[in-house]
Amino acid sequence: MAAIHNVFGPRANVTMKSDFGLIGLAVMGQNLVLNVESHGFQVSVFNRTTAVTDEFVARHPGKKLVGAATLEAFVESLATPRKIQIMVKAGAPVDAVIEQLIPLLSPGDIVIDGGNSLYTDTERRDAYLTSKGLRFIGAGVSGGEEGARKGPSIMPGGPLSTWEVMKPIFEAISAKVDGEPCVIHIGPGGAGHYVKMIHNGIEYGDMQLICEAYSLFKAAGFTTQEMAAIFNQWNEGELQSYLIQITGKALEQVDAETGKPIVELILDKAGQKGTGQWTLLNAAENAVVISTINAAVEARVLSSQKKQRVAASKELKGPKVDLSPVKAQLVAKVHDALYASKVISYAQGLDLMKTMGEKKGWGLDLGRIAAIWRGGCIIRARFLNRITDAYRSNPQLTNLMLDPFFKELLNRTQQNWRETVALAVTNGIPVPAFSASLGYYDSYRSERLSANLLQAQRDFFGAHTYERIDKPEGTMFHTEWPEVIG
Ligand code: 6PG
Repeated sequence: MAAIHNVFGPRANVTMKSDFGLIGLAVMGQNLVLNVESHGFQVSVFNRTTAVTDEFVARHPGKKLVGAATLEAFVESLATPRKIQIMVKAGAPVDAVIEQLIPLLSPGDIVIDGGNSLYTDTERRDAYLTSKGLRFIGAGVSGGEEGARKGPSIMPGGPLSTWEVMKPIFEAISAKVDGEPCVIHIGPGGAGHYVKMIHNGIEYGDMQLICEAYSLFKAAGFTTQEMAAIFNQWNEGELQSYLIQITGKALEQVDAETGKPIVELILDKAGQKGTGQWTLLNAAENAVVISTINAAVEARVLSSQKKQRVAASKELKGPKVDLSPVKAQLVAKVHDALYASKVISYAQGLDLMKTMGEKKGWGLDLGRIAAIWRGGCIIRARFLNRITDAYRSNPQLTNLMLDPFFKELLNRTQQNWRETVALAVTNGIPVPAFSASLGYYDSYRSERLSANLLQAQRDFFGAHTYERIDKPEGTMFHTEWPEVIG
């Protein structure tokens, strides 16, 4: 134990070997350590910069923490099979830590990647570590800093037998809803990180939809405080969710320097770290429509082109904005547009998960996944209970929109949703996610679309053939179309 680095020297409450180890003491890592420790586990910690480890351990006297100055000492301080969670930046840093760990580990030790890793990287790492006789879990962890400390939603992927070893710790530290831990074994290999990626895609959709509601209210002349009150009130009803709640709080926040609402001082350029784009790429690969999430990602991209938008705002015309005649009804209309669009976004995200889950043989349980999103994570919301119910009563549900509860909801809200989109279009207010969602809804519910003409065009220029409505399905036809000159 000589190499164990503990700034206070040996602690009376620290036993010889720790139950859990964590590498990477950024805020999420630190909070997870405190969470694990608070459930009675002794935790060893390691950070590349030893001063960070020292400072962290020193800040928490009396806790069962062991700070290690070297990776060797860190590994040595853990009980076997070792359980080591990596909380470093996704990508190359994860591989670098794994490479450093491998020579120090013993067969059967467990490495957990708790970052936002791309699921294909997780699959590669799983195969690699398995080939070395080690065990690997790729776990999506959602909930931000607060969730990490008080209870996140955890989406672990990997062999069932490895999950069984990790289960007591994961269940202890996760959020709880109705006494149920917000963690389940998602599936093998990259399933956990894949589901976390979808969670983030849905998170992008939810956030953009809220921003579109805000932009309509702003255009209609509501003050920031009035808007805060609307979101606070919505958080008491069907739309209750963490993102609605923090929106109300964010709108209430006043800038100390200027006395103005801080939101109105924040530059309108959105950042993104990539999980939304990964979701789009995966949807394209699987030919699944996720138009709401797509619109949300693209809205962030366009927002980031601030200079171009400022220049274009002086060149390209739009209508005069006048929402005053409808201001009194706007809150109810936008409420319904937001709720209906949110349902579409989840329907699309679930469709993508279902498609990939089947393709990969992951055995994803969509109802249970929705259940572990009810607490701890960024998209936690009251209505997730309804999604769980929908899949419990029909595990083979083709599309969430067809579940009786959601069908009734969409039928009830669709008129206000249309009117909201129409008002936005007439007034030149961009609502790409509201309208993409409505476009999906109207396309999905159309018995006959315009693709007959599209098929004619394809056959016209490329002899791609088509089927006929008056002939058996699967029989292909071709027409000799007239020649077009020039
Ligand atoms: C979560 C969040 C978390 C992180 C996102 C932000 O579930 O806790 O999704 O993972 O905040 O990565 O992503 P962007 O920077 O792309 O918005």
